[in-house]
Amino acid sequence: MDGNGRWAERRGFERSAGHRAGMETVREIVRVASELGVGWLTLYAFSSENWSRPKNEIDVLMSLPEKYFARELPEAERRGLRILTIGHLERLPRRVRFALERAVTRTASNTGMRLVFALSYGGRAEIVDATRRLLRVQEQGGLEPEALDEKMFAAHLDAPEMPDVDLLIRTGEEQRVSNFLLWQIAYAELVTADRMWPEFRRSDLEAAFDEYARRERRFGRTSAQAQNP
Ligand code: IPE
Ligand code: MG
Repeated sequence: MDGNGRWAERRGFERSAGHRAGMETVREIVRVASELGVGWLTLYAFSSENWSRPKNEIDVLMSLPEKYFARELPEAERRGLRILTIGHLERLPRRVRFALERAVTRTASNTGMRLVFALSYGGRAEIVDATRRLLRVQEQGGLEPEALDEKMFAAHLDAPEMPDVDLLIRTGEEQRVSNFLLWQIAYAELVTADRMWPEFRRSDLEAAFDEYARRERRFGRTSAQAQNP
């Protein structure tokens, strides 16, 4: 979700206004995605690297999860959404952590769309964390090096049940991955939306899905193989 700051600056607003507008987009896109039958939606809300922003901007960003859940948790429950988080939550202010943990707990038995918030998240850090968890298993005598494979590695990531990413949408006119879900995007289709996140709408999501549907996913196979798997 990129472009909140630029969206605001171009209009002569404070960057914080962009973040608040971005939260409205989150509300809409979560609703639309669950209506359209998306199985998993992961939102990159705050990166490990975002901690280097000015303190007042971080404070604004950290005020948003509580506001979001105060308004949206009842609807998320009605829709049967299951909320999850990935990232270093221990770095977040306690109030934010509580709001997230409450949302996760309250929706834990739901079976609808998985809604994952990546907060204080970095893809490399997640890979290092998974390695650390595996080393602990090994320390306890539970892992032979030869037994380690991709499936086992993936099972030690922050959200072990998260499937590989099919579609990665980046807003804000940039074309880079910025440390997002590095392991899980190995074969993701990338779509860059020519929109700042606060102006990303249902039609943009649908356009990204249309674009995705036009792509031929080969996973290393030939075109002929991919068409008759
Ligand atoms: C995305 O918007 C929100 C976060 C990263 C938290 P930005 O704040 O990155 O907006 P730009 O890139 O400065 O426009
Ligand atoms: Mg940005």
